[in-house]
Amino acid sequence: MRAFLIESYGPPCGHEIHDLPDPVAGAGEVVIEVEAIGLNYPDALMVQGKYQKRPETPFVPGRDCAGRVLAVGGDVREFKAGDTVVAQVFKGAFAERVVAPLERVFHRPEEVSAADAAGAITVFNTAYVATVMRAGVAAGDRVVVTGASGGVGSAATQLAKVRGADVVAIVSNQQKAELARQNGADHVIVPGDSSEDGLKRMFKEDVCGLWPDGEGADVVIETVGDPMFTAGLRGLRFGGRMVVVGFAAGVIPAAKTNYLLYNNLGVVGAPLDIQFEKARSQIREGAQWWLQLLAEGRVRANVSRTLPLESLMQGLQDLLDRKSIAKTVVTLDGPGD
Ligand SMILES: NC(=O)c1ccc[n+]([C@@H]2O[C@H](COP(=O)([O-])OP(=O)(O)OC[C@H]3O[C@@H](n4cnc5c(N)ncnc54)[C@H](OP(=O)(O)O)[C@@H]3O)[C@@H](O)[C@H]2O)c1
Repeated sequence: MRAFLIESYGPPCGHEIHDLPDPVAGAGEVVIEVEAIGLNYPDALMVQGKYQKRPETPFVPGRDCAGRVLAVGGDVREFKAGDTVVAQVFKGAFAERVVAPLERVFHRPEEVSAADAAGAITVFNTAYVATVMRAGVAAGDRVVVTGASGGVGSAATQLAKVRGADVVAIVSNQQKAELARQNGADHVIVPGDSSEDGLKRMFKEDVCGLWPDGEGADVVIETVGDPMFTAGLRGLRFGGRMVVVGFAAGVIPAAKTNYLLYNNLGVVGAPLDIQFEKARSQIREGAQWWLQLLAEGRVRANVSRTLPLESLMQGLQDLLDRKSIAKTVVTLDGPGD
């Protein structure tokens, strides 16, 4: 099978396709014939050795794929050859065939295309962890989403809307504002000044000013990192929760705990990967929920670009260069763009 192999860490475009042996399903595993691969920001970090976990080289990277089951381990009863599935593995998805542990494979409704499912799985699972498991967003909550035109931000906007929240999207330009509106955001703000002081002003005046009491939001889903995180604390009201999802701007923030104390605020992390060990049934329940929403057309995967396998690494470079809007997916049966 063809697969990208990381022989030594480096920029995306330095990595090449190799011919590798087909994977075999062991106990508790499923082999998938891949039809589509989703690209994510963490993939771009992992091929450079900048992700928090660094697999030993050589390895096949990639986390999101969708297709059909080709074979299952002898003890597997939940899936059979031919089933339509989507999977989120830790590594190995940038290939024509993928072996995945059972807990990371999900049945894909026939109405959901492989491209949509592969484009959705990491971002919707992450958005589910952030909005439902960690923030407990409920009807009527005021929810701010930063980096709202990105993959996780788009999914979080949509899931918060389905839960009945009043959603504020923070995006960096008007083109991205349009996407946030299509995702159902009730309010969209493009910061005029991206310095820490400018963003603090934006949260205090523009975000808090959206509601008649001027008090601010119940939840900030934060995907960007500093200075957005520090400024975002100013947009929370009494009892508000800041949910840390990621650091797309590259700067890991440090919270001033006196500010949290005086203002009765909470800061919680929303990691996805560890949930496959610690909260397996909840993640399965969440994936079934958003896959059904996709099947019913109540949320969208926002796949804006499809590429052939040969262009996968260029797709990752575009993510790093902030040239991407919405989701890029690699398809293995079509010509791509
Ligand atoms: N918690 C988890 O388990 C988990 C899972 C998946 C991803 N993540 C992390 O979550 C973050 C978002 O992932 P993603 O897949 O949504 O990435 P993405 O699709 O590339 O989106 C990133 C977003 O951040 C914005 N952004 C990038 N650089 C920025 C900057 N310097 N200042 C302000 N905004 C900036 C981008 O919009 P503009 O270009 O318009 O600013 C974009 O909307 C990443 O840090 C990723 O590593 C965490």
